[in-house]
Amino acid sequence: MNVLLIGSGGREHALAWKMAASPMLTQLYAAPGNPGVAAYAALVKLDVADHAAVAAFCREKRIDLVVVGPEAPLVAGIADDLRAEGIRVFGPSKAAARLEGSKSFTKELCDRYGIPTAAYGRFDNLEAARAYVKEKGAPIVIKADGLAAGKGVTVAITEKEALAALEACFDGSFGAAGAEVVIEEFLTGEEASFFCLCDGRTALPFGTAQDHKRVADGDTGPNTGGMGAYSPAPVMTPEMIERTMREIIEPTMRGMAEMGAPYSGILFAGLMITDQGPKLIEYNVRFGDPECQVLMMRLKDDLLVLLNAATDGQLAHMSVRWRDEAALTVVMAARGYPAAPEKGSVIEGVDVAAALEDVEIFHAGTAINAGALVANGGRVLNVTAIGKTVAEAQKRAYEAVDLIDWPQGFCRRDIGWRAVEREEQA
Ligand code: AMP
Ligand code: GLY
Repeated sequence: MNVLLIGSGGREHALAWKMAASPMLTQLYAAPGNPGVAAYAALVKLDVADHAAVAAFCREKRIDLVVVGPEAPLVAGIADDLRAEGIRVFGPSKAAARLEGSKSFTKELCDRYGIPTAAYGRFDNLEAARAYVKEKGAPIVIKADGLAAGKGVTVAITEKEALAALEACFDGSFGAAGAEVVIEEFLTGEEASFFCLCDGRTALPFGTAQDHKRVADGDTGPNTGGMGAYSPAPVMTPEMIERTMREIIEPTMRGMAEMGAPYSGILFAGLMITDQGPKLIEYNVRFGDPECQVLMMRLKDDLLVLLNAATDGQLAHMSVRWRDEAALTVVMAARGYPAAPEKGSVIEGVDVAAALEDVEIFHAGTAINAGALVANGGRVLNVTAIGKTVAEAQKRAYEAVDLIDWPQGFCRRDIGWRAVEREEQA
């Protein structure tokens, strides 16, 4: 098979690495990819927002499957436009991608199908939104409705913070994404990422992970795209997975099909495991980044076989096998991330670190400049390891981190702390 992979992050490097292990793969192309992806794929310069150009490329290169990494092209309808040209795509339609593209769409689906989620109100003007916050009090959560690259959510501990966040939404800080605001009840519990491979009808559980959103140790500092992750998530016991499927995922699949927007692709549920059970925080219509990296480390099966089955509506009789070990990834970021990452610094020692057993280093924001590997984004490398326990995977990942010579980079030193504590208590 010839495959076109869209995206440029650590998630796409992990997907490329795993697809490259498939005997079904003939040629992989990546648009735009990155220096890590280049080990497995021909990198192509394509404007992925120009769906006609992507379709023309697929015809020319006889692409059998397009795998879309990030959400923006899906929300923009790339899957619909390519399918209209007879090109097979792994990923949801534009209508189905509203699960990530519109928070109010997802909230209404939850209302209609009794899916457990935070209580909420929805507002298109500042005055009404302020009144709601004053009525409910803090802590409370403010969300710009549309896609805001992970920056549209404020978990406000005080009413003052909540009101400031509302003003930022309505003064245009998030562009069109802030024209409507969803205000939510603050949920308490432990967060988990839960993935399902979906084919429009069937949702197949596809692993669990926990992410670390805050930039600094001890879960402090500003929110980021994710500073590290591990899989599996201990809180997602078989019983919790079963409840999540029954109470959240299956009604979602049914609801989407009933409204004529059946969901296919990967469905990523951000969950809060509360005293009352799992509650949906949000859906994403893609793999998590860096959660994908730890899932790919543990997946035993041929990824291309599974992506093909999802694309062709053939998941009903499939199963997925995982390695029993834990996987953990540490994000190395450029100084200044998330506010203003410095670009261009030289990174050495990646090959030495990657040579360690049970370690893979996925590139996120890197580039090659005059033959040297340099930082080219906020999150730059994902140093990933597998081990019998989370503690062992953590130790191995940090051994690899310490072999990387990059004074202008930093990482958290406590990725996996919650699971390691659990293991120590067990
Ligand atoms: P998001 O950008 O939607 O992933 O949200 C960022 C983070 O905000 C989530 O990972 C949660 O930690 C937190 N969050 C979002 N909604 C809620 C909620 N209703 N209650 C508590 N925390 C929340
Ligand atoms: N790591 C969280 C996300 O990909 O949204």
